[in-house]
Amino acid sequence: MRPSKRLERIPPYAFAELERKIAAKRAAGVDVISLGIGDPDRPTPALVVEAMREAVTEAETHRYPTNRGREDFRGAVRDFYARRFDVALDPDTEIIPAIGAKEAIFNLNLAFLDPGDYALAADPGYPVYTAGPWLAGAEPVLMALQPEHGFIPDLGAIEEDVARRAKLMYLNYPNNPTGAVVPDGFFERVVEFARAYDILVVHDNSYSEISFDGYRAPSFLATPGAKEVGVEVFSLSKGYNMTGWRCAVLVGNAAALETYWRLKTNIDSGLFEAIQLAAVAALSPDADEEVTSMNALYVRRRDLVCDALRGIGVDVRPPRATIYVWAPVPEGFPSSEAYCEHVLERAAVVLSPGAIYGPAGEGWFRISLTAPDDRVLEAVRRMGAITG
Ligand SMILES: Cc1ncc(COP(=O)(O)O)c(C=O)c1O
Repeated sequence: MRPSKRLERIPPYAFAELERKIAAKRAAGVDVISLGIGDPDRPTPALVVEAMREAVTEAETHRYPTNRGREDFRGAVRDFYARRFDVALDPDTEIIPAIGAKEAIFNLNLAFLDPGDYALAADPGYPVYTAGPWLAGAEPVLMALQPEHGFIPDLGAIEEDVARRAKLMYLNYPNNPTGAVVPDGFFERVVEFARAYDILVVHDNSYSEISFDGYRAPSFLATPGAKEVGVEVFSLSKGYNMTGWRCAVLVGNAAALETYWRLKTNIDSGLFEAIQLAAVAALSPDADEEVTSMNALYVRRRDLVCDALRGIGVDVRPPRATIYVWAPVPEGFPSSEAYCEHVLERAAVVLSPGAIYGPAGEGWFRISLTAPDDRVLEAVRRMGAITG
């Protein structure tokens, strides 16, 4: 049986490969510490679990949801966006639940791209920004994020004919994998660019709730004019330890949301209503304390990792947001993949090679702060022990 040509064009999902490797090692009795995938190790906050427990006993949640989402869910998103980001959203036209950010990002490609179209994708970036356009028959065009530019793309470097053929642009701040935050003025330039070339900006806001040192990440939609040209994907996965729940929301440009909705009604049947009710609890001010304490935990791990990396001669900058430390590969290794392979084989620590996020990620590796403190410490101790 042959897979479709569309599917043959894309490499297997990097983490699927990694999971296979880890499973094989563990089966052989090796104590593997995984700092690879960004999957929070702490449980979902109790108030969210409690809301789910109640919701799931209510028969009204058991039926097909609508793809528009429950009114109370959309109301909670509206209130959250107003309180947290100072962004006003119309719950009737500017909010749609998604079955995780990954679903929304992928489906936006199907909703907006035709063969021959371009989608501008941050490099390094979340792999769906490139796999999505490919699966839609279109072409991703990479925008390199360079450290000397603060890991933002150089919009001026995008060629005129590429900009004209581009229909989507993927951006993500706070950024996976680099941990970068958006500098002042950049989103304004994005709005101008998108207007000039009639591009729909998809801002992936999956990490806004995880930030440190007093930093609070903005919504792209708080930028004047952003709603005319863009949508934002907000996910509950990382900030609320809800990766397994598959809960996110697409907000912003009403016409774009209508198109996304039209596609979705043909593909899936919406987000389980009990999960929508659990999200209402997560987005309420009652959960703020939980978010604050998770950030205290991540900042502690961040500092442990950065101190330890500096101790072994890795020049690393502590990120102000996200659950990732992005660091340059030590000298003497031909590639990020070779370094991560070396660390896995010699120290049984899983890191992510930067190159899996795109060519501009070569020369870097990513550490995810999503393991208990003692495991994070043990991992960096092992990394130190195999260095020099
Ligand atoms: C930038 C980015 N966007 C989206 C996702 C997926 O989020 P979700 O769990 O909501 O599908 C991830 C997960 O790692 C991510 O890093």
